Amino acid sequence: MSNWPYPRIVAHRGGGKLAPENTLAAIDVGARFGHAMIEFDAKLSRDGQIFLLHDDTLERTSNGWGVAGRLTWDELLKVDAGGWYSGEFKGEKLPLLSEVAQRCRQHAMMANIEIKPTTGADAETGSVVALAARALWQGMTAPLLSSFSIEALEAAQQSAPELPRGLLLDAWRDDWRALASRLGCVSLHLNHRLLDEARVAQIKSAGLRILVYTVNDPQRAALLLSWGVDCICTDRIDLIGPDFHA
Ligand code: G3P
Ligand code: MG
Repeated sequence: MSNWPYPRIVAHRGGGKLAPENTLAAIDVGARFGHAMIEFDAKLSRDGQIFLLHDDTLERTSNGWGVAGRLTWDELLKVDAGGWYSGEFKGEKLPLLSEVAQRCRQHAMMANIEIKPTTGADAETGSVVALAARALWQGMTAPLLSSFSIEALEAAQQSAPELPRGLLLDAWRDDWRALASRLGCVSLHLNHRLLDEARVAQIKSAGLRILVYTVNDPQRAALLLSWGVDCICTDRIDLIGPDFHA
């Protein structure tokens, strides 16, 4: 089994549901609850800056409009990514990956960088994010890169082969073993609903770690950990805290 320095509990999108997702404020909230690791979603602006956003488009989590990857960083900087959540977070910016790395360093937090390419920008995003992650996380625990995009993972593997990779699956694939092996993945990152105890055992016996998302029920989290799941990614960073045990 590969070296796996990561904790059992990971705060989804920085601060789960307790802050506007994928912002520096969310990372601060995750840290305030004592979390040792966060997950977040990274993509490229039109001019190649890496920033955090889950969706292709801006509407759901900001006051911006349209496909974020078609805008330049100067344009994206004008967007308010906190006001949609609550007045308290109004004026919160979309963060650059470099700012996120700095914040992780300040809080001594580990990172799961989910490479979330704008449709059609898979390989470029995988490569650019992996190279930046290598440079920005110098001297810290290596960030765990993950993606639903096989193309992005291939590009990350080529650009920064030494960074650990996780294959994200929202639907089960029978070729998971061959795919994870080809991509040099250390882990599968699975929708927790895809798992039962036998599947966990199968994946673990293939030498892979397992991260599950998004688990918000402590009872379910405990069951998954008892099966041998390594990491729980949660929105309920208050209920499923850093010291949570099976
Ligand atoms: O990386 C785990 C999880 O974040 C994947 O799903 O849609 O929340 O990015 P999503
Ligand atoms: Mg994600």
